[in-house]
Amino acid sequence: MARVAVIGAGYVGIVVATSLAHIGHRVVVGERDSERIKLLESGDPVIHEPRLEELLKGALSSGTISFTPDNRVAVDRADVVFLALPTPSDAGGSADVSAIYGALEELASTLSPTSVVVTKSTVPVGENERIAAFLASKGCQASVVSNPEFLQEGSAVEHFLNPDRIVIGGEDPEAVRRVMDLYRTLPGLRLSLTDTATAELVKYASNAFLAMKIAFINEIADLCTAAGADVLKVAEGMGMDDRIGLKFLRPGPGYGGSCFPKDTQALVHIGNTYGADQSIVRAVVASNEGHKEHVVRRVAAELGGLAGKRLGLLGVAFKAGTDDIRESPALSIAGALAAGGARVSMYDPQAAVPEEMNVSQSASWEEAVAEADAVLILTEWPQFSAISPAELADLMAGTLLFDTRNILDPEAVVAAGLQYLGMGRV
Ligand code: UGA
Repeated sequence: MARVAVIGAGYVGIVVATSLAHIGHRVVVGERDSERIKLLESGDPVIHEPRLEELLKGALSSGTISFTPDNRVAVDRADVVFLALPTPSDAGGSADVSAIYGALEELASTLSPTSVVVTKSTVPVGENERIAAFLASKGCQASVVSNPEFLQEGSAVEHFLNPDRIVIGGEDPEAVRRVMDLYRTLPGLRLSLTDTATAELVKYASNAFLAMKIAFINEIADLCTAAGADVLKVAEGMGMDDRIGLKFLRPGPGYGGSCFPKDTQALVHIGNTYGADQSIVRAVVASNEGHKEHVVRRVAAELGGLAGKRLGLLGVAFKAGTDDIRESPALSIAGALAAGGARVSMYDPQAAVPEEMNVSQSASWEEAVAEADAVLILTEWPQFSAISPAELADLMAGTLLFDTRNILDPEAVVAAGLQYLGMGRV
């Protein structure tokens, strides 16, 4: 059992802290937001993530997790200090690491020389070296290790407890060993030990590659629509080749979330910094933007314009299983439809529409689609795949259904008297 501090109770921080406490470590979380601490202390994990509440409550009752607004208290006597602070894109597309340096400034004098500082946040290539140099300049001897996070929202706890791989990059073998030891009890552990720059790039390259698969299949989906082919069968056929694999070949309204949009842009920026142009990733970013616009254009073309049209949009979250709306394609599409003059109502079982948007939020899917000229399915929630086309047809005023996630049966939709548009299947 190790003494662990986690700085930052955002998405990654809460999942990492709770899961580490669950597997037996003694975890103290430093978080500035006192309201958030109150919720966490009461057993409310703040974010919607399967199993998180159960594990948090278990850790609270066994006393293996605690929270403090003072980061210095959190790191006091900690063997390992995880930095799980946000690194959003700045105006130029590079990752803004100011939150990390803000915390280090505060912690440098408290960290013991034997502590290991672990970056969980996705940071630019070379940042871990700069962090080590910054700490050294403050007279702090702590070692710095990169341990990028690969969790997927909606199955984050499951991924933490059954990881595909754990990548640990560091220059100090003893520090690397101590981080490795934290995960010792996880089943089927596959470790990749590297230097820090390599670990940083494993993370960016993985996310950019997955984003590329999605952008690729979305373009193939558009081609399938035009050529009268079925993209699901194309993806299935491609996926049978295990060099390609079927995963992440599901067409949709474009990728979103807190990771792919930010990390692809950051990788383009990193490439420019090092004079190694990432032209493929640049194309992926542009393709994804273009794809969302294409969804809007298709709806406008089918309806003969957007002005005054009543649209019911099902889904707000960037994907099913989460209440996260960061960079959600559903919201950019809704914004563009509203800007084109449509009256937009949205429904999501978990996620909320931001107040500043010119879009209304409905209390149920039935309310969102009532009297709609067209309905768009934008998030693949299981409850949307269970919608009865006949009931939908009864509630709508018009007949157009655009299933951007391909979750309904086209034949059943057409049999109910609706017009079915899918993503890459007719
Ligand atoms: C992603 C990666 O999958 C994780 O491995 C990584 O650890 C994480 O980012 C991170 O950097 O922290 P996440 O953003 O939670 O995880 O979500 P994904 O399941 O990857 O989905 C991202 C977007 O791609 C969503 O908008 C989703 O709807 C879309 N998507 C995904 C598709 O449109 N089609 C697919 O086949 C798969």
